[in-house]
Amino acid sequence: MATSSTAPCPHGVAPNGCPISADAAAFRPFDGPYQLDPAEALRRAREREPVFYAPDIGYWVVTRYEDVKAVFRDNNLFSPAIALEKMTPPTAEAQAILRKYNYNLQRTMVNEDEPQHMERRRLLLDDFLPERLARHEPMVRRLCRDYMDRFIDRGHADLVNDIFYEIPLTVALHFLGVPDEGAERLRQFAVAHTLNTWGRPPPEEQIEIAENVGRFWQTANEILDDMIANPDGEGWMYETVRQHFKHPDIVPESYMRSMMMAILAAAHETTSNATANAFWTLLTHRDAWEEICENPALIPSAVEECLRVAGSIIAWRRIATDDAELGGVKIPKGGKLLIVQASANRDAAHWENPDQVDIYRDNAVEHLTFGYGAHQCMGKNIGRMEMRVFLEEFTRRLPHMRLVPGQTFENLRNISFRGPARLLVEWDPAQNPERHDPSILDRAMSFPIGAPVRDDTLRRVVVQEVRDEATGVRSYRLADPRGKALPKWTPGSHVDLVAGGFRRKYSLCGDAQDSSTYQIAILREEDGRGGSRHFHDTLEAGATVHIAGPRNHFRLDEGAESYVLVAGGIGITPILAMADRLRTLGRPYRLHYCGATRAAMALLERVMRDHGDRLRLHVSDEGTRLDMAAELTGVGAGTQVYACGPERMLEALQDLARGWPEGTLHYEYFSAGASGLDPSREHGFEVVLADSDMTIQVAPDETVFEALRRAGVDLQTDCGEGLCGTCEARVLEGEIDHRDRVLSRAERDRGDRMMTCCSRARGRRLVLAL
Ligand code: HEM
Ligand code: FES
Repeated sequence: MATSSTAPCPHGVAPNGCPISADAAAFRPFDGPYQLDPAEALRRAREREPVFYAPDIGYWVVTRYEDVKAVFRDNNLFSPAIALEKMTPPTAEAQAILRKYNYNLQRTMVNEDEPQHMERRRLLLDDFLPERLARHEPMVRRLCRDYMDRFIDRGHADLVNDIFYEIPLTVALHFLGVPDEGAERLRQFAVAHTLNTWGRPPPEEQIEIAENVGRFWQTANEILDDMIANPDGEGWMYETVRQHFKHPDIVPESYMRSMMMAILAAAHETTSNATANAFWTLLTHRDAWEEICENPALIPSAVEECLRVAGSIIAWRRIATDDAELGGVKIPKGGKLLIVQASANRDAAHWENPDQVDIYRDNAVEHLTFGYGAHQCMGKNIGRMEMRVFLEEFTRRLPHMRLVPGQTFENLRNISFRGPARLLVEWDPAQNPERHDPSILDRAMSFPIGAPVRDDTLRRVVVQEVRDEATGVRSYRLADPRGKALPKWTPGSHVDLVAGGFRRKYSLCGDAQDSSTYQIAILREEDGRGGSRHFHDTLEAGATVHIAGPRNHFRLDEGAESYVLVAGGIGITPILAMADRLRTLGRPYRLHYCGATRAAMALLERVMRDHGDRLRLHVSDEGTRLDMAAELTGVGAGTQVYACGPERMLEALQDLARGWPEGTLHYEYFSAGASGLDPSREHGFEVVLADSDMTIQVAPDETVFEALRRAGVDLQTDCGEGLCGTCEARVLEGEIDHRDRVLSRAERDRGDRMMTCCSRARGRRLVLAL
């Protein structure tokens, strides 16, 4: 919208010609609300003005998840060239000081454009691959234990200064192959570098900052000169030097000099801050802290949730290389963007209950704290590993530790890096568990390197009631052991029940309004794989089990004109929850419930009581088997059909659905067909990742998902057998060999998405939007 003479712009005009709003004019990232809580400060912007021009800094501020991700995704249109540019131009005096030190920070990795960036990244990526990182874990654990030993009997500590600053520094130096320069000196340098790049230091402070930045540059160069003279050492920077000798065009000297300085800060400040933020978050959400003390398997997902709600990089920068449009706003060529990950990470359009700290959140890994796409943080799995070790050691050795009340979160005043200057905690040493049971020191738990695996996110529940519902079917009512409310769920949701080494999915079929319990019904499958038999035989009232979820891959579209619900056997469970919801909404629906005998039909009494007037029972031994073609005639535009039941029933429905408008039939299988890969029948192929600019090979005996994880790409799976849709990826090129039960025939024919846990390439190549 251009301005006109009749519409005065009291707050000025943005570079695209649009008036600047009062909120945008008032946005001051160096003080006030943004420094206190960046996501909260941008809440209104997310809702009303998601991309706006902030005259205070001369940047376009991007606040929504989809827009922030879109900027990260397109690193050609939105170049990272300004990622390390000084937010505040240095004074003449500061410039003179920097010149004295020959300071000349140029392109590193994070601010390099294509094609140079990706060539360099590929050449230097190997040390960061998950299998290479595992060897660093013992050192992190040993350091953590040694540092804890220094204060564990003292009863209080400042976690930032007593442990979280130094260990990530030591680990970073070790990883890079850099000799220890003394923590205090490097700390001064890092603070100066942060303020110099992302801060707004007043002129009188700039002099000292410039001196420290200059010394930092000098020190980094001296270290590098030693490495160049003796390039055989171990560590990533030595590897960089060796690659420089082999490929000086791809790894030029100016890169090495700039990187040596930039990485010293990037590799440890980020992790120190993220760890302090995570402890701050968990100790102020005591329930979550106590849950991981009781169940340390939750630690990887808790780390991810902390990175979401309290990341250590809250905003990053890009510059538009051409005229662009973002969230409906025109950004002129040369426009500078402040993309606020902290805001994206709390966007209600992407996250359920975005402001709640939920360590069971199953998509927390989608946070943007590590960036996304071609430049996504190479060191993310080092950061994750350190944070997990810290949490694991502390929750085991100091579960009774508390935050000292009344302290405030003091952050270094800047726009990107966030973490408290100190974190004061206290505890009663007499209650240290190791004083009574020294064996807890031997009970360390470690986790696979990389994004959390699904088994980590398990919630402990107790079986409150068990009821026989029909021949071979029992229902179980599950509750939180402390009587807390369970998360809300929607019809079609399921939980994974985990007990006795078995993990099986069961739809929720109780009252969705009652958050005190979940209800599931389990059919005993004599010829199954043993899970249902185990649950029937061992689960009694009072037993403790674990669940994952709830998750919903079978959502009810509440906007249709009318509904036909079809349940076969135990498939009644999700369908009953849908029927309940439609009744509550007052929508027209018909419910077909099919079974072999009445005695074998679970929940029949309740179905008849609550849905009798809409119900058609089809009982085989009464001769009322469902005649699909006859009963489902007239399904047309405006009607939605939801079905759950045995394979034969769903196949028949799919045949019938050919004559219906696209998107009418929705169904859920209980189990996949044949699974498992036979390498003698499969072929290998390559997968090109367009957003990350990587190519990976998928071997005949591995899934696309496994190959992606091996390459360090964070993607989630759930069922792992093509049933749930969690592992979906967009396909840009290549013919897909679909093997899932999620996509409809029409969706398969479009060929633009696939389930990476099971589907493969028909040819030799697929291009994915990842
Ligand atoms: C890039 C965050 C730990 C090395 C980045 C970026 C962010 C980030 C936001 C820019 C991403 C983008 O432009 O898309 C973090 C956080 C960390 C962390 C939150 C800890 C919790 C580390 C560690 C290392 C590291 C431990 C190294 C040992 C790098 C490198 C890049 C990078 C080399 C440049 C990648 C590229 O441009 O291709 N990091 N980082 N980071 N990070 Fe990290
Ligand atoms: Fe469920 Fe792939 S993880 S479809």
